Amino acid sequence: MRKFGYRVVDLLVDHFANVRHGPVGAKGEPAKLIPLFDVDPPEQGRDPNELLAQLEREVLPNNLHVDHPRFFAFVPGPNNFVSTMADALAAGFNVFNGTWLGGSAAAAVELGVVRWLARVCGLPKSAGGLFVSGGSMANLTALVAARHALLNDHTENAVIYFSDQTHSSVERALRVIGFLPEQLRKLPSDENFRLSIQTLRDAIGVDRAKGLRPFCVIANAGTTNTGAVDPLNELADLAVKEKLWLHVDGAFGAAAILCDRGRKLLSGLDRADSISLDPHKWLFQSFECGCVLVRDVSLLRSAFQIKADYLRDVHRLTVEFNPADHGVQLTRSFRALKVWLSLQTFGVAAFRDAMTRGFELAEIAERELRARKGWEILSAAQMATVCFRFGESSEVQTQLVDLMMKEQFALLTSTELRGNAALRLCTINPRTTEADIVETIERLDQLARAL
Ligand SMILES: Cc1ncc(COP(=O)(O)O)c(C=O)c1O
Repeated sequence: MRKFGYRVVDLLVDHFANVRHGPVGAKGEPAKLIPLFDVDPPEQGRDPNELLAQLEREVLPNNLHVDHPRFFAFVPGPNNFVSTMADALAAGFNVFNGTWLGGSAAAAVELGVVRWLARVCGLPKSAGGLFVSGGSMANLTALVAARHALLNDHTENAVIYFSDQTHSSVERALRVIGFLPEQLRKLPSDENFRLSIQTLRDAIGVDRAKGLRPFCVIANAGTTNTGAVDPLNELADLAVKEKLWLHVDGAFGAAAILCDRGRKLLSGLDRADSISLDPHKWLFQSFECGCVLVRDVSLLRSAFQIKADYLRDVHRLTVEFNPADHGVQLTRSFRALKVWLSLQTFGVAAFRDAMTRGFELAEIAERELRARKGWEILSAAQMATVCFRFGESSEVQTQLVDLMMKEQFALLTSTELRGNAALRLCTINPRTTEADIVETIERLDQLARAL
């Protein structure tokens, strides 16, 4: 066990220490990769060292390294080593984090970290929540609470509002929990990619006139596309007036409230009925680690709690916190441990500085792009995100993504902004240096000009 464990730790340490010196990762060919693993396991076990060597050869390099300092695609996953070790402990001790009876200390750690996050977001003492797999599950969990609290689960004629910049996981969650496409209003965002209050107000008016039941508005605290933050205070005012549930999808951006720059942008977050916040994005945790926060945690409990016969010992004492009563999963891994251990190890100030760095890196990228001819900024740096293009051709932007992927020096991906293909850099990795950004833009510039 020790030998095997030490080799695994060595692999991890080498990865953390050296990832920046290697390629940003690779996308393997299906015809090559699938046959390697589409085989039955052996009847007799194999040598663990040989197996680790196989992983080093065939598995670990053939993924994109989302933690690489020059991985700027999608939302990077710049996790930290302490978080990684916490996952090893949680898995090794196989801690059951479903009930107080099964994992009392785990439940206490989770309660503590979740309450801290709720305080950071400005939610009142009544607030609580849960660690979940990620933003998708956080959105779904919050929307189940909203449906139960405001509709008593009767969804007929209920209507939900969100902007066209909202993450697809929201629409999927609504589909999963039984809303029909005709109950969803995907409203056009304004010139800054934000949900416009007037557009929302008009849509609610039209629906009320038809006898429909407006019930929930979903705001973004950092869209995936551009980092835009919807006008949270105005949305909260309207939600109160119209008796709507205000869910804020801050899976990407809400954690930025820890630093000064984020706090200014996220004014009004404290007025949400529920919030999604992903520690596996901008709080530097290993996958999977999302968090759902609800202003009144009793609404989460009443939406999810079912007292099964065989769990009668679990529900005897009401002071005990049972995570499973607040979400979809019964058996759950101990996700809170990594957040707790890394916060304790590094201190909040280190997280705050690392986040501020993300804001600055996107601004450096914007500066470098503006200094070169032919580049157009489509969405200025905000929340560690900048969108731009070279010329107007969609094909050119796509080719640039492919060429960068082929080079393996740095990776970015494209998106669509008002029908235009746009390149996008997401700069939340605090291990990214200014030189990483400058060299990435320089290479992009050379490739663009050669095209
Ligand atoms: C704003 C936003 N919401 C939700 C999600 C979904 O989160 P996850 O992939 O962790 O399920 C993402 C992921 O990028 C996101 O950026």
